[in-house]
Amino acid sequence: MFFKTKKEIFGLDIGSHSIKLIELKKSKRSYKLKTAGIKFLPKDTIIDGSIMDSTTFIDTLRSLLSEAKPSTKFVALSVSGQGVIVKKINVPFITEEELADAIQWETEQYLPFSIQDVYCDFKILGESTEIQGQLDVLLVAAKKDLVDDYQHAVREVGLEPLVVDIDAFAMQNMYELNESLSEDKVVMLANLGASFTNINIVKNGNSLFTRDIIWGGNKVTESLQKNFAITFEDAESVKCGKPAEGLDINEVSTIIAQEIDNIVNEMQRTINFFYNSYPNDVIDKMVLYGGTAHLAGLIDALKNKLGLVVELGNPFKRIAVDDSFWNRGLQNYSIQTAIAVGLAIRRLGDR
Ligand SMILES: Nc1ncnc2c1ncn2[C@@H]1O[C@H](COP(=O)(O)OP(=O)(O)OP(=O)(O)O)[C@@H](O)[C@H]1O
Ligand SMILES: [Mg+2]
Repeated sequence: MFFKTKKEIFGLDIGSHSIKLIELKKSKRSYKLKTAGIKFLPKDTIIDGSIMDSTTFIDTLRSLLSEAKPSTKFVALSVSGQGVIVKKINVPFITEEELADAIQWETEQYLPFSIQDVYCDFKILGESTEIQGQLDVLLVAAKKDLVDDYQHAVREVGLEPLVVDIDAFAMQNMYELNESLSEDKVVMLANLGASFTNINIVKNGNSLFTRDIIWGGNKVTESLQKNFAITFEDAESVKCGKPAEGLDINEVSTIIAQEIDNIVNEMQRTINFFYNSYPNDVIDKMVLYGGTAHLAGLIDALKNKLGLVVELGNPFKRIAVDDSFWNRGLQNYSIQTAIAVGLAIRRLGDR
C-alpha cells in the first residue's frame, strides 16, 4: 500500500509459522511461476505479527533465499493483525490531491493510536452508494514500528522492500487473478494461518469488509498440548493427522472440534456484522486459504453451521506451474502461498 514500483518484484509473506516466497513471470496475459519456497520458523520467532527473535528470523530468511534463489532483490511484503486498521469512510467529492492533504486528519479520527505512530494510505472507491454526493474511501493505517521492523529485517539480508501491503488485500489480489469476477457475486475470502485469520469480503473487485480475527492453528496446537501435556511439536503433528501414540483419538477430535467451534463462531459474528452494514447483499460462498484451511473437520463445520458453500482455494488456478515445482513438493504448501502470490503480482500504481 505504501510504496509503488514498476520493477520486477517477488512476494514475501512473513508468517509466524513460516516464511513464503513466490516470484511470477508475466507474459502478455498470463503468469508463470518462476520461484517458490517456504521455510518454517521456530516457535516464538514471531509473536502477534512482531519479530521477537531477529537473529533466528534473519537466518531463516537467508536460508530461504539461498535455496529458492529469486532473480531480484526487490520485494513486496505485507502486514496484518492489531497494528493494522482498515476503514471505509465517506467524504465529500474532492480530488485525489485534496484528499491526500486531508488524509492525516481524516485518519486520525479513526485510530486507536497516535497518527505519528502510523503510515497511512487511502484509495478512492468511487461514488458512495449510500450517501449522495459523497465518495467512498478506503483508509489504511499500519503501525510504523511493525512496518519498519519488517523492512529493516529484509534489508539485513540485502533485499529492498518496495511494497508493503495488507494480508487481506494481497489475498484479494491473488483471488482476482485466479477467478473470473462474476457481477454482483459476494465472496468471503478467509486466510487461516497459525496466529491470525484474515477475512476479506469482496464484490466486483472491491473489498466491502475486512477483519483480522486473532485465531489461528496455534490455538488448536496449544489446546492439544495443554490437554495431553505433550510438546508443541508433538501437538502439531497430532493436529495435522499423524497417528497419536498413546492418546485417546476421540479426545483429540473433541479438543479440535472445540477450537473449530471458536473460529466458526467468530466467522458467524463477522457475517452478522457484514449483513448489518450491507443488508441487501448475500454472501455467495466462502473460499479458504492458509495452512489451517487443511484442519480436519473445519470445512464441514463451516458448511453446517454457517449454511454457506465453502471451498478450498487454489492460489495457482490460473498460473502456469512447471512439474518441477510439484516434484519438489509445492503441493504440500501451495495453499499457504495465497498471500505471497498476491504480493508477487503487485506493480506500479495498483493500490
Ligand atoms: N494438514 C494440516 N492440518 C491442520 N493444520 C495444518 C495443516 N498443515 C498446516 N497446518 C497449520 O497451518 C498453520 C500454518 O499456516 P500458514 O503458513 O498459513 O501460517 P502463517 O502464515 O505462518 O501464520 P500467520 O500468518 O497466522 O502468522 C500452522 O498452524 C500449521 O499447524
Ligand atoms: Mg500468514
